[in-house]
Amino acid sequence: MEKITLTENRIFQGSLILVNSKYSFRSEPEERLIPVRESVPHILLQRCAVVLLEQLMYKIDGWSSIVPVSGWRARSEQQQIWDDSLAENGLPFTQKYVAVPGHSEHQTGLALDLGLKSDHIDFICPDFPDTGICRKFRQTAAKYGFILRYPAGKESVTGIGHEPWHFRYVGTPHAGIMSEHDLTLEEYTDFIREYPIYSRPYMIKNGSQEAAVSFISCTAAHMTVEITGEYPYTVSGNNVDGFILTEFLR
Ligand code: DAL
Ligand code: ZN
Repeated sequence: MEKITLTENRIFQGSLILVNSKYSFRSEPEERLIPVRESVPHILLQRCAVVLLEQLMYKIDGWSSIVPVSGWRARSEQQQIWDDSLAENGLPFTQKYVAVPGHSEHQTGLALDLGLKSDHIDFICPDFPDTGICRKFRQTAAKYGFILRYPAGKESVTGIGHEPWHFRYVGTPHAGIMSEHDLTLEEYTDFIREYPIYSRPYMIKNGSQEAAVSFISCTAAHMTVEITGEYPYTVSGNNVDGFILTEFLR
């Protein structure tokens, strides 16, 4: 057996943190922020997301027709975008497509807006049609740990309008589970709570990969949790009330 120590502040860190109108981003990007591509030195993401995005784009030859539009934003930048949009587009549009400053997952360095290459790209709502290379990207994204964060039909769950251009890195196998069950990050956060540690983990088998996912409720400022220690594992906070443990069995 192996003991892992979890402190309360780690709830707010990790690739599975839920950031929305209810739960603000209370941490700092965990990993170093690096450019999404050499050609766009001002568009940054956490390193883990850049590495997987690069592999995904290579797989589908995505960079030949897709461009990064927005990555990490400081809170002050989100405030500027909010203020500009409010002045230009009014409150209903702004509430639909711009997260309240402090509550944007762009602040995590794990969210990315993409657009189809063209002479004019709208910064708030870039064109990312459900056809051709953009569709291919969306269909391949989960395998590399990315989800379409604001899908159509889930506006009342996410609190944001349908944004076909906005992708969020959550890692594997989570993106695959969410895609398979048609869950937003809000819904997945609740879904995983049903699989508490020491009870029954959620088992996922995908080709030769096998993983066990379970929820650890944060019940004290400083906690010790026992795991088998037999497998590689990751722990992410959920930014709400606990942690998600992922054990990679195969
Ligand atoms: N467009 C998304 C919701 C943001 O501003 O974070
Ligand atoms: Zn976005």
